[in-house]
Amino acid sequence: MQVVIREYSLRDFNDVLEIDKEAFNPRNPSFDMFVYLTCCNDLLVADIGGKVVGYVVTMDVDRLTGKIVSIAVRKEFRGMGIGEALLRRAIERLRAKGKTRIALEVRVSNKAAQELYKKLGFRVINTIPNYYSDGEDAYYMVLSFSGQ
Ligand SMILES: CC(C)(COP(=O)(O)OP(=O)(O)OC[C@H]1O[C@@H](n2cnc3c(N)ncnc32)[C@H](O)[C@@H]1OP(=O)(O)O)[C@@H](O)C(=O)NCCC(=O)NCCS
Repeated sequence: MQVVIREYSLRDFNDVLEIDKEAFNPRNPSFDMFVYLTCCNDLLVADIGGKVVGYVVTMDVDRLTGKIVSIAVRKEFRGMGIGEALLRRAIERLRAKGKTRIALEVRVSNKAAQELYKKLGFRVINTIPNYYSDGEDAYYMVLSFSGQ
């Protein structure tokens, strides 16, 4: 099974929306994801033989700061290193653009994602109360390349 991490293209639109729906929003179409796909963000996808099985969305916050906006892998393909491969590539790309700091928010209950982020060097900086619409808190995590 060969996983290729590549740029998102328009033909991936439905696959990415489906993965987002499965991961975050089983009942509703994801307005946020629709916005990510149409404006202002960078997307990479994980492709296995032409089938998109995961994605990562990043954005520029300012000249030195990038952000991991969203990452998800289809349920049946989790635990195979695909999320890690997507995140590593996203970090590389942000670094190549001159970012020295990459930030993200993650639900305090989302241990799988937190472990992935910690594995790649992100650290919890603080907790943001009521960050999500259902009232759950977020951890604000940062990966820093120059010690700031
Ligand atoms: C988080 C997510 C993207 C991880 O993707 P994945 O392809 O399953 O992750 P990988 O197989 O690449 O795992 C890489 C590392 O992540 C951590 N990890 C992944 N799944 C884990 C789990 N269920 N429990 C604990 N740690 C986990 C481990 O550190 C793992 O490294 P290891 O294999 O050396 O132990 C995936 O679980 C997912 O799509 N979740 C739903 C969407 C989501 O929560 N996104 C994050 C929003 S902030």
